[in-house]
Amino acid sequence: MCGIFGCILDGGDRAAPIIHSALNQLEYRGYDSVGEATIHSGHLYVKKDVGKISEVHSSVNLDDMPGSVGIGHTRWATHGAPTQKNAHPHTDCQEKIALVHNGIIQNFAELRKELEGRGHLFKSNTDTEVMPHLIEDYFKEGLSFSESVRRALLRVKGSYAIAAISVDDPNTIICARKESPLVIGVGKSANYLASDIPAFLPMTKMVLFLEEEEMAVLKRDEVTIFNIGSGDQTKRDPMRIEWTVEMAQKGGKPHFMLKEIAEQPLALQNALRGELIYYNLMATILAKARNIILLACGTSSHACIVATYLFSKLAHVNSSVSIASEFMEQFGNSVDEGTVVLAVSQSGETADTLSAIRSAKDKGATILGITNVMGSSLTRLASVYIGQNSGPEIAVAATKTFTSQVLILSKLAIALAEKRGTIRSDEIDSLMTDLGRIPWYVKKELESNDEKIKRLAAKYRDRFSFCFLGRGLNVATALEGRLKLLELAYTPSLAYSAGESKHGFIALVNENYPVIFIAPNDDLKSRLIGNIMEMKARGADIIAITEEKDKELQTLADDWIEVPKGINPLFTPIVYAIPLQLFAYHVSVMRGHDPDRPRNLAKSVTVE
Ligand code: F6R
Repeated sequence: MCGIFGCILDGGDRAAPIIHSALNQLEYRGYDSVGEATIHSGHLYVKKDVGKISEVHSSVNLDDMPGSVGIGHTRWATHGAPTQKNAHPHTDCQEKIALVHNGIIQNFAELRKELEGRGHLFKSNTDTEVMPHLIEDYFKEGLSFSESVRRALLRVKGSYAIAAISVDDPNTIICARKESPLVIGVGKSANYLASDIPAFLPMTKMVLFLEEEEMAVLKRDEVTIFNIGSGDQTKRDPMRIEWTVEMAQKGGKPHFMLKEIAEQPLALQNALRGELIYYNLMATILAKARNIILLACGTSSHACIVATYLFSKLAHVNSSVSIASEFMEQFGNSVDEGTVVLAVSQSGETADTLSAIRSAKDKGATILGITNVMGSSLTRLASVYIGQNSGPEIAVAATKTFTSQVLILSKLAIALAEKRGTIRSDEIDSLMTDLGRIPWYVKKELESNDEKIKRLAAKYRDRFSFCFLGRGLNVATALEGRLKLLELAYTPSLAYSAGESKHGFIALVNENYPVIFIAPNDDLKSRLIGNIMEMKARGADIIAITEEKDKELQTLADDWIEVPKGINPLFTPIVYAIPLQLFAYHVSVMRGHDPDRPRNLAKSVTVE
């Protein structure tokens, strides 16, 4: 997730200071590098560098650029490390076209090869740079600037929100979107575009929402919208937004956490886009390992638990999870050159995780990483890493970064199974198809469940304690549901493997003790029903997360939340965790807490 902005102002007004202040409003979308481009008197001016906006501004003065037309970008690195040359805007060979981008271009490697074959010179390692070069070629063929952009967009696969300017058409900005957000602000003799409304809210409250696969041509006095595929024009009137800047940053939602929960279909789609080459590399290293340890803290460790089940089920590989602060005590003496440590950390900066990695490295282990922050310490310590592409997560509690980690680890398990030949190629194809459908299931689930979960939160909000039970992969989902509730609502909660619950926890159960069962319609269901009966017999209130219309479970439960039918049982933790995130969120709000900033917790725990 990055932030993009563009403005075309009245001739006398300078774009650069407006872009700079707009980027400040978008910094929550990414903050590893920043850049601006403007056009003035037939020249393109570009300033960009690594660092937060304030740092870059104090070294290059982002306000000091001529021209009333310009674009800007605040970056959250996906392809290419956070460096000066990888910062946006990116330009064509002749430095006449500048473009900013939020999203991921999947086929950039083949396009780059093709463009280099035609003599184009690339200056960065980003996926984005193929676009100004493609536009340059179409423009040279004699097409208009907007048609050149449209043609270029038809060549790229993946997701994008882009804005482009050209010295050959200096009174125009072209912008477009596919799967990444983009909104247009309609002003008086001035128009704006941005990833998000807060960027232009001080200038205008009149907003035009671009739909999927639409582009817009911005002039000072008009905005024209086209369908990218057909090139046909679409008419749409702007609407007035009454949001404050703070409301707008949260996408109109009351908290970042709720916004981030709602972002999961897109975050998962972006997680799926990680390049296969890194999965194959990791799978090759894991396949040769004598000993595999998954290393993490908190929520990330729950993603690792799911991975141990999948590595075994699909690739017949044994692995264990180590909580990073216990790693050296638990495994220190058995780590050696044959050990592969797969560290999972959304921030890539958790002190316990980094310290365990350094100790493992000293003992000769190979380090692999999964993280949401490119350029973080984890990316520097790991031999191979995979970026989550979730975009920044502002709420302290991990939501979209957790489900993305599970999805990436699932894809890695499939790659490992392929490498080891433990499943047939038709099975691999079908697993990949099932995994590819997960963002759609999550979208469907989010559309239907929130009100019901809110009602359940209202009913159970004052219970003193909860227990979450699941079997198989969904033991991890139970642990994650418990962690979300206790950290956000401060409700002492337990989580167990349902089978283990009769070895102790059952002593706690009495009339109306709420027990939440993660109950997909899988091979373990009949045994889980046995556990439900044990709890019911002692008067517990049963809340079940079930498949849609699972009457067998729903007649046993006091309350239930439905999840769409048809999810491959191996990938249920991703979808079944989401009602638990929402439940914890609503209980927290109803108990008067701030779910974005739970007490005593930090987003990135940088002390051991
Ligand atoms: C809980 C949560 C924490 C983190 C943990 C590890 O909602 O967010 O438990 O998962 O602090 O953080 P990372 O993944 O950044 O290493």
